[in-house]
Amino acid sequence: METPLISPHGGTLVSRVLHGEVRDAVLERAHSMPKVWLAKTNISDLELIATGAFSPLRGFMTSDDYQRVVNDMHLDNGLPWTIPITLPVTQEVADGLKEGTDIALVEPDPDEPDGYRILAVMELEEKYTYSKEIEAEKVYRTTDDAHPGVARLYRQGDVLLGGDVFMLRMPKAAETEFPDLRYTPAQTRRMFARRGWRRIVAFQTRNPIHRAHEYIQKTALEIVDGLFIHPLVGETKPDDIPADVRVESYRALLRDYYPADRVLLGVFPAAMRYAGPREAVFHALVRKNYGCSHFIVGRDHAGVKGYYGTFDAHYIFDEFTEEEIGITPLFFDHAFYCRKCGSIVSAKTCPHGPEDHIKLSGTQVREMLARGEMLPEEFTRPEVSRILIEGMRRKAKVP
Ligand code: ADX
Repeated sequence: METPLISPHGGTLVSRVLHGEVRDAVLERAHSMPKVWLAKTNISDLELIATGAFSPLRGFMTSDDYQRVVNDMHLDNGLPWTIPITLPVTQEVADGLKEGTDIALVEPDPDEPDGYRILAVMELEEKYTYSKEIEAEKVYRTTDDAHPGVARLYRQGDVLLGGDVFMLRMPKAAETEFPDLRYTPAQTRRMFARRGWRRIVAFQTRNPIHRAHEYIQKTALEIVDGLFIHPLVGETKPDDIPADVRVESYRALLRDYYPADRVLLGVFPAAMRYAGPREAVFHALVRKNYGCSHFIVGRDHAGVKGYYGTFDAHYIFDEFTEEEIGITPLFFDHAFYCRKCGSIVSAKTCPHGPEDHIKLSGTQVREMLARGEMLPEEFTRPEVSRILIEGMRRKAKVP
């Protein structure tokens, strides 16, 4: 009997990947189309559109969807959506493209004979201009270019290309970066069903798993059938711990501290936006597409440098109905180790004061690791500390 999993966002799991003879024929035609070179974030977005992780999106947003998403956190069809998924190009590139024609989306690849790999064809429905300041203010809640998401937005092209895509070949990263963990939503849905899981909680992360993460994951797992640990491995800011080091630490932790039949590790090839509350909703909707019924939102989810209130990513869910979001957010207070309690607790459950709590900031953690110091065991398991120290050493050696 088929296990009933949660419906994808909008009801149908999108697939924009072409196969077989049709694919070969379109690829043949694509060679003579105008070519648009994608940046790393756009390559990630393309992969996620094509595999259905961004259902119901079928391509990069046209202006109707873009405007509604920026101003009102919904798509033009009324479904919630909080992050613009756009394809920016310079005015010069846009001038060379004609609406109503097909274009080839390519990624730079020095290993290919032509220096690039054709990934997809896009039906260019629309070229449009937009205000970066308005997008920054609405989506990131700041126009400060010290915010890494805003800085990326300000760097990108001034014209957006909108239209449906047809994927012809997966990006190079899909072959070289964690191919064994890069499950598509269709694959995770099959894996969950095979395991007989119906209620699955997803955990988004861009950091190594510290004890507080482990605590909230396992607390959530108590009330569902399975835990899907889904670290983001697309573009992050340079001082975040590199994805390969993080993934190594997840694998070590899972081996020794998690029940193998209740936990699945997979990577999420998206780029990090650091858009805090808006990105929390986006992260939740996308995990619904992977088949998850619940989603963990802890302290300062997807936040950066104090731009958001600690629990803004909880409050934003009040702006939607439960029905339109579909996936159930599980909100967690700030978790940490308390010496008096002798365990990991949260601000909600611990009666003791800050003097009994072990808390380290991201900067403190990075500095300790760079000095080769093990993090306190109450904060991070020693297996993870060792992998992080080694990872920092390797990173320091790279010129
Ligand atoms: S994020 O940018 O992907 O959100 P991170 O990997 O640090 O960053 O966090 C993953 C998830 O764990 C988020 O939901 C975040 O809110 C939550 N989280 C991280 N640290 C804590 C903590 N000490 N207490 C409670 N929740 C936390």
